[in-house]
Amino acid sequence: MAMEWNERMAIGHDVIDQQHRELFRRFDILIEACRQACGKERIEELLYFLDSYVVTHFREEEGLMEGHAYPGVDEHKAQHRYFTGRLDALKADLKAKGVSTHLVISTNQILLKWIIQHIKNIDVQFGAFLKTRAQEAV
Ligand SMILES: [Fe+2]
Repeated sequence: MAMEWNERMAIGHDVIDQQHRELFRRFDILIEACRQACGKERIEELLYFLDSYVVTHFREEEGLMEGHAYPGVDEHKAQHRYFTGRLDALKADLKAKGVSTHLVISTNQILLKWIIQHIKNIDVQFGAFLKTRAQEAV
């Protein structure tokens, strides 16, 4: 098990928290496949499996931010773009050069660390904003 979602990463929004769990699950499958030295095709397949979910999740998170007129939306989107850029670079590397399993593992661990920090430091701010909004509405 590479890294599991835990309550300390909860932002307090059920849908987003559930999606973060799913992100971790997909990361875990990918990193485990790398550890077991799966072939390039399998790793590529799992990387796309992760990537498609990242895209969906970011889109939903950003849609929620826009829907609530969240003031930090632009900065947050820029962070998401950075991450998808890294994933795109990894996909391109894998396709072009068939990068070593070791490189894929280490890159994924860097990306996984990024996601953890992003959730704990950035997504939680949005969660706090949503809570304030909900309290104001009462
Ligand atoms: Fe985010």
